[in-house]
Amino acid sequence: MDKRERLIQKLRNIAVQTPTAILEVPEKVEGFGSIKYRPEPCSVCKKCIEACEVEALDIDFTVQLPAYLDATIPEGGFRSKNRETLISLLQTLKGEGDVQAISVPTGLAGYGSVVWFTEKCIACNKCVEACPEDCLDLEKQYDLPTIIGDVVTPPSISITEWEPFIICFVCWECSHAAADLAGLMHLHYPANIRTVRVPCSGAVEPIQIMTAMENGVDGVLVTGCLLSECHYGGDDPLAGNFMQQDFVHFWQSVFEEIGLGGRLHIDFASAAMGIRFTEIVTEFVERIKKIGPSPLRGKLEVES
Ligand code: FES
Repeated sequence: MDKRERLIQKLRNIAVQTPTAILEVPEKVEGFGSIKYRPEPCSVCKKCIEACEVEALDIDFTVQLPAYLDATIPEGGFRSKNRETLISLLQTLKGEGDVQAISVPTGLAGYGSVVWFTEKCIACNKCVEACPEDCLDLEKQYDLPTIIGDVVTPPSISITEWEPFIICFVCWECSHAAADLAGLMHLHYPANIRTVRVPCSGAVEPIQIMTAMENGVDGVLVTGCLLSECHYGGDDPLAGNFMQQDFVHFWQSVFEEIGLGGRLHIDFASAAMGIRFTEIVTEFVERIKKIGPSPLRGKLEVES
């Protein structure tokens, strides 16, 4: 099972409501997005199909007449002269009235279109790189309804005595030291968190967050060094904590859509900020107490 399938499987497992949105995916999240295909310059050379490891592309032997007739041939022409000749010929020949797509006889090489299967694509960009005609573009969008589909709402749960259980990822360089300092300073924060030490907040993978949710935790808190102070990139926008912040915002919107809104949070503390770390944890635990137990607890009880 590849990364995309595993992530989608996890999302399906934790979804408690059917989503409706198409979400914007931040840069660098591999595995999500869609391919935009322009049939006009395509010479159906099959290079994209050969480059695609997950067989998400195929040939549809149909000439897209409406697209060709509306095509504007660039000043320098298409790289595929066959295709350019075909388009200008069709545009010259076009009479009045509507035009439709037509099927190409079998064996007529170089005509047709590439079709893309959203459910197989891992948005790895390999087809885009392989295309000599620049026909393909990667659009960083995540079509949640198509991918998640209908979901079964878990049964409601009645928990009389409940305390939130929260996984807190702490960055080895800063927020872990902040948690340590809080202990040394004898500061008190709720005992509802279990910390998982990671080399950098940027190292936390979505699959780990999903797995925690799938196992019934009530919330996931990601903590890292202060923004601009990540030990892997500093103030570079591609530093671990900047990127993780973008990703968490994306996953927060996914969580809203699937009925787990508010259960994921990211915050930052330097090694000297024991008090701030205490506040971050306390505020998140209070928030989760207001939201209530994870609906996944009920789902998991039924599955077991
Ligand atoms: Fe701490 Fe990157 S090293 S967030």
